[in-house]
Amino acid sequence: MSKPVRKAVIPAAGFGTRFLPFSKSVPKEMLPIVDRPVIDFIVAEAVAAGMTDILIITSRHKKVMEDHFDRFPELEVALEAKGKSDELKQIVDITKQANIHFIRQGEALGLGHAIGMAEAHVGDEPFAVLLGDDIMHERAGVLSGMVDAYNTHGSSVVALMEVDPQDIGSYGCAATESTDNDRLKKVTGLVEKPKPEVAPSNLAVMGRYLFTPTIFEEIRKTGPGVGGEIQITDAMLSLLDREQMLGYTFSEGRFDTGKKEDYLRAVVELTLERDDVGPAFREILADVCRREGLV
Ligand code: G1P
Repeated sequence: MSKPVRKAVIPAAGFGTRFLPFSKSVPKEMLPIVDRPVIDFIVAEAVAAGMTDILIITSRHKKVMEDHFDRFPELEVALEAKGKSDELKQIVDITKQANIHFIRQGEALGLGHAIGMAEAHVGDEPFAVLLGDDIMHERAGVLSGMVDAYNTHGSSVVALMEVDPQDIGSYGCAATESTDNDRLKKVTGLVEKPKPEVAPSNLAVMGRYLFTPTIFEEIRKTGPGVGGEIQITDAMLSLLDREQMLGYTFSEGRFDTGKKEDYLRAVVELTLERDDVGPAFREILADVCRREGLV
């Protein structure tokens, strides 16, 4: 019987150079979708998939993320005194949804290295990894589906999505074989950011992983790869020699908020879905579209 997946690791230590100058002083994970930072959506997804313990890997210029998930007694007292109970509940609930911990990656040595920093915290348990700038819409059910696959098969699972073959060089790429379940593939090979002409497929590794703790042994053995960084994809490739790994395929519902265009799409789509500002925003959008001759 496999141990339950209770822990999630969110690597969020990068500079966010694509969002400069904003990200010079504010972490890109704090970009707002109206009034909630991107990192809130990632944490909420982990909680919805059953995680009760979340470790965020951050770095020295990202202290505000810690403040966001911490209690703020002076503000709580002020909101209480003003009778602003909804706002009070919101800011307290953020801190109570899970046990949220932080450690810092002192040097930017790569995603594999950042995940390796979670070893002492995670221990001998399976754990999920959610990249800090990919929002997955809940309708896609990616992480929950991966947890189901882990519970059934007991092996590591990685989220995979087909991309335009020309774009595969921006991602980890998986070679796979089919299984008797349409959603699940058997991963047979992995390569980080291959040139499109040598890529084994157009199946890209998206920002969700579910690992058995054996991955830590492989990370420790992994040297610098593409870009001189310790790549999680390389550690996963060596894990394949020891354990089966499944690919959980999905086709939509991912917003890469580290890219400006995709961030804007996330803002538009997720705002339209809101009960409070959604209806007014729909009218604003329709207005702009008419004015711009888009409809
Ligand atoms: C990272 C991973 C890559 C994965 C991608 C998903 O790359 O190294 O394998 O496909 O995230 O977004 P990055 O986007 O950090 O360059």
